[in-house]
Amino acid sequence: MLSAVRLLVMPSAYSRSCKTKPGSHPFDEILYCNIGNPQSLGQLPITFFREVLALCDHPPLLDKSETHALFSADAIARACKILDVIPGRATGAYSHSQGIKGLRDAIAAGIAARDGFPANPDDIFLTDGASPAVHMMMQLLIRNEKDGILCPIPQYPLYSASIALHGGSVVPYYLDESTGWGLEISELKKQLEDARSKGITVRALVVINPGNPTGQVLGEENQKEIVNFCKNEGLVLLADEVYQENIYVNDKKFNSFKKIARSMGYGDDDLPLVSFQSVSKGYYGECGKRGGYMEVTGFGPEVREQIYKVASVNLCSNISGQILASLIMNPPKVGDESYESYAAERNGILSSLARRAKALENAFNSFEGVTCNKAEGAMYLFPRLRLPRKAIQAAKAVNAAPDAFYAGRLLDTTGIVVVPGSGFGQVPGTWHVRCTILPQEDKIPAIISRLKAFHEAFMEEFRD
Ligand SMILES: Cc1ncc(COP(=O)(O)O)c(C=O)c1O
Repeated sequence: MLSAVRLLVMPSAYSRSCKTKPGSHPFDEILYCNIGNPQSLGQLPITFFREVLALCDHPPLLDKSETHALFSADAIARACKILDVIPGRATGAYSHSQGIKGLRDAIAAGIAARDGFPANPDDIFLTDGASPAVHMMMQLLIRNEKDGILCPIPQYPLYSASIALHGGSVVPYYLDESTGWGLEISELKKQLEDARSKGITVRALVVINPGNPTGQVLGEENQKEIVNFCKNEGLVLLADEVYQENIYVNDKKFNSFKKIARSMGYGDDDLPLVSFQSVSKGYYGECGKRGGYMEVTGFGPEVREQIYKVASVNLCSNISGQILASLIMNPPKVGDESYESYAAERNGILSSLARRAKALENAFNSFEGVTCNKAEGAMYLFPRLRLPRKAIQAAKAVNAAPDAFYAGRLLDTTGIVVVPGSGFGQVPGTWHVRCTILPQEDKIPAIISRLKAFHEAFMEEFRD
């Protein structure tokens, strides 16, 4: 679609022309509300994490007296501890393909502390972010187009892209917008049976919790039903849990699927389960460092061996990402020198994200013909647009999907970049856009007033 492609290439061109030819657009800067990339919009990294990384990357700093004035004592101690587990104390060396054992030990301890159930370091595969981990699992699960993977619609398009790349079939299941993008077991069953009747062997179920682009946080009972569904149907549960720290409402809490399964009495032999985690999201937002892991449980030794072989093809994931993954799962604790500043930075970021989410959600809900999900978690709002018939016809006339047409007009008029909802899989007969909550808080009022003015003018122009 013409407009969707324009939305990818035009923002950077507009941004350049705003600088080189001031006055050439009705706005003076591009406001990026399209990508979950917090630090590109000014979110600062967590000081403790960066101190440890800096010291690990340049160990001679540890011998300098000034270091003790510049870095916190617990960052110095943590860096020493990490260097002790890195073979050769060298962050520039390849590591074990599964990731440095001492860092996997730390991650397993962090998972156990989070869940209250043990985690095994041999189950952890460190990766360059969640994306390569997802690709790895798709590569292992998919043999041909007759292998299907149940994926939510709307979904983060990594899944449909990875399934396509590996020659499999997406088996869509639709989240229910009317219940806050709820995941209904009856819908899973219906889609599973439908796929099976077409000769598709459904091998796995993808669940994104908290959801992207839909921002919902699953309840515990619902998660239990999902676990039972996978167990009864013999499906691998692929749990994308990269937004586990991004929860903005008091009545919802993140529970890992592994914790849920273990609390139901299911052990390693009962359910193949893969949990994806990343350093890119949460309050840390270290997207460019490329770190993450998958925790792989419930597979036999032969499958495990194949996973290890695939991981070995890329030698190892990058070491800064590995260190960061160990840090996000073991941040400073009460009593550590950095704890208070760390907690202030973390809480500052999360509470600001919660305020931004609420302000944008309220704004969208105040617009004519727009309804917006509650931002329970993740980094996005996914407002539904009920567009006038004339706007839909105008979109058709330029070969654009109506949501892409709307988003294109929004960009041209206001400099605000959002993503057309159809990019996340089309929910039949509905149109949405995805808007991140990541621009700095002082920009939110201007974004809201530009959105409002644009929306009113758009609705007026195309009024039936
Ligand atoms: C749901 C979800 N999963 C996975 C990823 C991939 O993250 P990364 O590869 O940076 O870890 C993203 C990125 O936005 C995401 O939203």
